[in-house]
This record gives sequence, structure tokens and C-alpha cells, in this order.
Amino acid sequence: MSALPDHRQGPTTGEPGHSTAAAADRRPAVPRVILLEAGPVSAALGEAVRSVVAAAGVDIAWQVEPAGALGVDRLGSPLPDATVAAIADAGRCLKTLLRTPTGGGYESPNVQLRKRLGIFAGVRAIRNLDGVPSRYQGVDVLLVRELTEEIYSGIEHEVVPGVVQTIKVLTRHKSERVIRFAFELARRRGRKRLTLVHKANIMKRSDGLFRAIGREIASDYPDIAFDDVIADNAAMQLVVRPERFDVLVAGNLFGDILADVGAGLVGGSALVTSHNSGLLPANGLPVEVFEATHHVGLAVDTDGEPAASALTLLLPALDLLRHLGATDAATRIGLAITAVLRDPAATTPDHGGRASTRAMAAAIVAALPADAGAIAPAGAR
Ligand code: IPM
Ligand code: MG
Repeated sequence: MSALPDHRQGPTTGEPGHSTAAAADRRPAVPRVILLEAGPVSAALGEAVRSVVAAAGVDIAWQVEPAGALGVDRLGSPLPDATVAAIADAGRCLKTLLRTPTGGGYESPNVQLRKRLGIFAGVRAIRNLDGVPSRYQGVDVLLVRELTEEIYSGIEHEVVPGVVQTIKVLTRHKSERVIRFAFELARRRGRKRLTLVHKANIMKRSDGLFRAIGREIASDYPDIAFDDVIADNAAMQLVVRPERFDVLVAGNLFGDILADVGAGLVGGSALVTSHNSGLLPANGLPVEVFEATHHVGLAVDTDGEPAASALTLLLPALDLLRHLGATDAATRIGLAITAVLRDPAATTPDHGGRASTRAMAAAIVAALPADAGAIAPAGAR
């Protein structure tokens, strides 16, 4: 096992999620990561990740905590306080999407978690994965999405019977933060253009402010071309010529929709994962959540064994590994994934095979190359 330094550090005024190892000495050498478990399918996905990461030689202290249905069964909540506290303490979490009741019931635990951790930006890389058939090839767009406010504020009223309101709350503070985050990301990744998505022709106040802030901040980044585009047009252009976009920054709802449009271009939502960054409200410490962005449902094979694609949680785990500095291991796992996708028999039904999650993970372990070589890996960022 290679010992990775634990990169988490104290309060920062810089960008979260990209801290240096400045305070590494105050924390144990093996990074601790909270792995959420919601039921048998997510447990199998978690097990798949742990086996592949261990086989790639990376030592992580996984701490499994309940959420979703398992959180309700064990602790009476889809997002138990103890689970949130563990993530805040460790500063890192790997999770599947947690099921949410539609049209009633409790607020989505995924959204609750983002709000309680002070998450403010989610990065979704819309990219092809070698071996996954898709309508387009060569797509390479980074989408930065605000994750806690506007239409996700959860403020809804029935004014009088038959008249309801859902309030979109947009603040200068959070808009500035996510737009600046997007510019910094663009610069760090050597990207050339940032496009801001809005509907300021209709929501003149809220999206008008978002767009105006984008224009203000753009003047601090003369090296990055800046433009803005109306959301519906952005969706169409993404489908017609995805190469028109480089980095996108969007508010919460348009970001959600465009992420799925983008996922559709490259072969499905399992391929587009979310790296969410925040600063804890209580102490300003950085926190990172690596999230699968599609529901795995109750995917089981005919023997009742979980059969969701092992990639569901493995792709966000690759983001985690890169964040931890284990880029070589992430590259090797990417190569193994590519090899396994070429052999449908080793894959789960999502990829056309009949293997269980566990069997697909075992195939990935068996395909792990000893070194990363020079071939472009699957899921490279
Ligand atoms: C996503 C999902 C979530 C969202 C749901 C599950 C709350 O669609 O992460 O893209 O709307 O943000
Ligand atoms: Mg979504």
C-alpha cells in the first residue's frame, strides 16, 4: 500500500478541494473517507470500490455510515446527524445518489447534505469513456454548478388553494463564490473559455444578478474568454455542437438539467460524476463530496445479487483518488475499466453483460496493469 498524505488543512481563504499538504503533519497518514451506505446495492458498490482501490495499492481508511433507506431503518433519518458529523470530521465522503420521495415527503437527503456541509460548487466532467458507446465522441466539457440555493432553497407555499409558489433565492455571495471557483478551475486546467448559463431575459432580477456578477468577475481573468448564453439555447447548443463549450458555470437547476443533457451525449448518467466542494459552516474547514449522480435503484440479477454497474461509484472514486494525489492508481484503474468494458461478459447489464457488481469489480481488479504506461486512461480528468 502506498501511504498518501492526508491533505486536509485548516481554514482557508483559497479554493476548497485543492489544498496543499501544508498541514498534513497534524493528521494521520492514511486518509479517512466516509463511505455512505443506503442499502444492499450501495453496499455492493462500496465493496467494489474498496476492493479495486486496495488492489491498486492505495490505502484509505474507509468509514461506512448509514444514509437514505438504511439511515431511516437504523437511525430514523435519511440523513442522520451522526453521518453528517462524521463527514464534517473526516472532510471527505464518497456516496451514491440517495433516493428521494417525489412530490412530497422529506427534502432530498442529497440536497440536505450539500446544504449542511456548506457545499457550494459541483464539478461534473462531461466526457466520453473509452468502451462506452455514445451518440458523440470527443466531448470534453466541464460543468460547474451551484449546489445549495435558488430553486433548491425548498421554500414553497400554497398561497390560496390552487395557487402555489416556489421561491428562487439567489445571493450575490454564493453566486460570486461559484463563478470565481469556475474561473479558477478553468485557469488551473488550462481551459480557454468560460460560458455562464442563465435565463436573465425572463428572471431579470435573479439571473440578471448572476449574469452581471459573471461579467464583473470576468475582468479579473483576462486569460479566459467569457461569454453567457440563455439556458434553453445552451441545452440546444450542447446537443448540436458540444465542442462550442469548454467550461460552463450554471445555477442549481440549469446546472442539474445540463448535466443530464451532457450525460446523455456521452452514454448515460453513470458516466458523469460530481466532485462537490464546500467550506463547513461551523469552522470553515474544506469538505469534499464525491458523488454518483444517477439512481441505481434496486438493480439485482436473477439470483438477487446486486448488479448495478461497478462504475457507478468507481468513477467518483477516481475523482477522489486524484484529489488525494493518487493519480497513478486512478490512471491504472481507468485502464482496467477500459479493458473490462471491451469484454461485455465481464460487465453488468447496464453495459450489456450479465455479471454482478461484485464480478465486474473482480474483473477490473484482474485487469489492473502494473504501471500506468502512456495510453490515455478511461475517465481521465
Ligand atoms: C443530481 C441529482 C440531484 C439534484 C437530486 C437527486 C436531488 O439530480 O445530483 O444531479 O437534483 O441535484
Ligand atoms: Mg441531476
